[in-house]
Amino acid sequence: MSVQTSDPSSETFPARLLGWYDRSARVLPWRIPPRSGAVPDPYRVWMAEIMLQQTTVAAVTAYFRRFIERWPTVVDLAAADDADVMAAWAGLGYYARARNLLACARAVVADHAGRFPDSEASLRALPGIGDYTAASVAAIAFGRPSVVIDANIERVMARHRLIETPLPAAKREIRSALAPLVPADRPGDFAQALMDLGATVCTPRAPVCAICPVMADCRARGRADIEKLPVKPPKKSKPQRYGVAWWIERDGAVWLVRRPGKGMLGGMRALPGDEWSDRAPPESGLTHVDHGFTHFDLRLILVRREVQLAAGEGEWWPLSALDAAGLPTLYRKLTDKMRERVT
Ligand code: ADE
Repeated sequence: MSVQTSDPSSETFPARLLGWYDRSARVLPWRIPPRSGAVPDPYRVWMAEIMLQQTTVAAVTAYFRRFIERWPTVVDLAAADDADVMAAWAGLGYYARARNLLACARAVVADHAGRFPDSEASLRALPGIGDYTAASVAAIAFGRPSVVIDANIERVMARHRLIETPLPAAKREIRSALAPLVPADRPGDFAQALMDLGATVCTPRAPVCAICPVMADCRARGRADIEKLPVKPPKKSKPQRYGVAWWIERDGAVWLVRRPGKGMLGGMRALPGDEWSDRAPPESGLTHVDHGFTHFDLRLILVRREVQLAAGEGEWWPLSALDAAGLPTLYRKLTDKMRERVT
């Protein structure tokens, strides 16, 4: 198809965008390069989309490679030990995603003979697959004309169509603007082209409008307040919570436990400690960390406890091998601080 970029109409939007993507697509380990003729592996597409929720491409890439190397197919992942998967996920955050990743792999093996179903509705029925992931996997892995909307795509469309309604109400308008543009022949590339445009050109700060393939009809172009789009909802202040974690050390090893399967950091290895609460504990402790979760901020104070308290389910973990414990970032920050003290 030859494209007149001087024809800034909705009809040419997909072609202008895809032409740019053909030249400028980011090379990403889960992605089939445009026009390569290769067939995407739904397992890799799904894994990437789960990891990329709430997490940047830069943070995900190394994790994605490690997961695929260790569990090359959905059958391998379904057979993995829960503890190994949780440890491999450590540091990515939002740990319910890791529990659901395993649950989904096992459902694909048990209920779908190890093949991902290929429609948005059947994908949506699997554990951990919400509207976004169902749409993106259907489009990218199976060429379904789904309407895929992530934060990058929201930004591109809110600007291109000058949608000034605040989020989340703006989502309906964004969807209505986007739905008629999705091309039947390349819906997966179209979605990924919008993601790349949002990540590299139509950036939150200082968008590079001069090189944008769809600038001719962008209604926000040249506006001083373009960075304000999409309009965010007012920020809610987060409650402050507190916790005490225990440092129980013996013979060069520290006592680690596993958090209960449900709830915050569920199923992850951790330092033992009290339940988190709204009240600041009296101890000032050896050290502390401040960590932001989605719905609250946590100050976790580290106190030394007697060896006798190393009871119940847990294990002595050599201090020299703490990197391999698969601790979530919250605890990792504390153990790093302790390591700085001793070395
Ligand atoms: N963010 C979410 N999914 C993505 C994808 N497939 N490619 C690039 N960035 C993404």
